[in-house]
Amino acid sequence: MSGQDYLSLYKAAEKARVNAHAPYSGFKVGAALLTGDGRVFTGVNVENSSFGATICAERTAFVKAISEGVRDFEAIAVSAGDEPAVPCGICRQFMSDFAPDLKVVTGPSDEDGNGLKVIGLRELFPEAFVLDRQDRQ
Ligand code: THU
Repeated sequence: MSGQDYLSLYKAAEKARVNAHAPYSGFKVGAALLTGDGRVFTGVNVENSSFGATICAERTAFVKAISEGVRDFEAIAVSAGDEPAVPCGICRQFMSDFAPDLKVVTGPSDEDGNGLKVIGLRELFPEAFVLDRQDRQ
């Protein structure tokens, strides 16, 4: 992927962010997930009055794609507007189960991509937990 590809994915995350539902934290996040076949699934954080039921933007995007049958992922961009945002621990584990080689694109970034960062999920989440399901009842 080129720098321009990462920037357009980040812009899709920024655009999606307007639909974030964050009445409790006020911290609105948008995500854009690029699949292996070039589709983009967006997501936002959806908070709940039972705080633990909140879902992050990254997992919203993944759940949308997975429920449409997608299993091949290239990159995810995350935007919190002018503030930095990197995936939380739960999202790192969640994404690692499906796409350990995912690229994570974050900002804040200006229109031209100044400030954009691209980090491998393996770097963000080393020594990931992997469940060995063999020989289990
Ligand atoms: N949040 C995300 O959606 N993604 C991140 O990468 C960081 C945190 C959400 C969860 C919660 O709704 C709000 O941001 C504050 O933690």
